[in-house]
Amino acid sequence: MAVIRDKGEMRSWSRSRRKAGGGLALVPTMGYLHRGHLSLVEEAKKRAQFAVVSIYVNPGQFAPTEDLDSYPSDLQGDLRRLAEMGVDAVFCPTNLYDYGEGRGVVGDGERESFAGAGSIGGGDVGREGKLLSCVEDRGGEGAGHETWIRVERLEKGLCGSSRPVFFRGVATVVAKLFNIVEPDVVVFGKKDYQQWRIIRRMVRDLDFAIDVVGLEVVREIDGLAMSSRNVLLSPTERQQALSISESLLKAKVAVQNGETSCEGLKASVTRSITQAGGRVDYAEIVDQENLGVVKRIRSPVVFCVAAWFGKVRLIDNVEISL
Ligand code: PAJ
Repeated sequence: MAVIRDKGEMRSWSRSRRKAGGGLALVPTMGYLHRGHLSLVEEAKKRAQFAVVSIYVNPGQFAPTEDLDSYPSDLQGDLRRLAEMGVDAVFCPTNLYDYGEGRGVVGDGERESFAGAGSIGGGDVGREGKLLSCVEDRGGEGAGHETWIRVERLEKGLCGSSRPVFFRGVATVVAKLFNIVEPDVVVFGKKDYQQWRIIRRMVRDLDFAIDVVGLEVVREIDGLAMSSRNVLLSPTERQQALSISESLLKAKVAVQNGETSCEGLKASVTRSITQAGGRVDYAEIVDQENLGVVKRIRSPVVFCVAAWFGKVRLIDNVEISL
């Protein structure tokens, strides 16, 4: 398995594989891989001759107040699991916003200390937090990064309301990864439903020649949606967090038994999570295609929830088709 840190090297690797006639599938991740990620990797292997996984905690999608510095990482463990699965290449860049101009991104000294292959540990990701203020162009000509992709309507609402810069950061880094890796197929999880819809729309609107595949949410045995952030929950919070999947499942059953009014469904999910000790960011029922808010269920919807347990924000959803 090739472990590649350099953008140019990644592009050459992909191009040489494609020249040899092989299709290429990419799974973009931020690492600390769990079975949810690995289900995407399995699918990528089925869909193309070569499977590439990217691991990059993207500072461009974290606001200054968010958990970039505490985002968990275990690059060595991730690489071991991906090698066992027969992945062909892992792209784990140090800084995707470094354009080699020597200013505005990281100082030369810092770049040096990032250089050792396979050495992104929790500490390094923490240091990468310093990049955040440099990602945007605040330093005048030549400094930072100033081109962003906005999927204007889909990025509003749900996670976009409480994380206003999140989706432009996601869309932009994903477009960068597409341009570097040049995949034929990309695999995303529907755990991040809005993200999946945004990427599909971006690919269509910008004519990327890429198939976007979305896979079902993978859950722990008790129903909690798998997430790299679950490890940050205390045992009590971990227990409380079950209220999300449990209440969503109840809502789904209620709809299947004939309930169509969204107001009561949303109130009951909010109540269950709050009573368990969580703080609901949103509980919203939206159209599966355009993510527009729905009042009465008449066509396929997705019930999306984001809630805080202590300092950890979790998201989950269930698709409900009549
Ligand atoms: P990350 O949270 O690491 O997720 C990487 C991919 O794994 C996403 O497509 C996500 O939806 C999927 N995934 C996570 N948990 C899952 C679960 N329980 N079941 C199924 N799929 C799951 O999403 C990101 O990273 C970033 O925003 C990224 C797209 C890499 C851009 O930086």
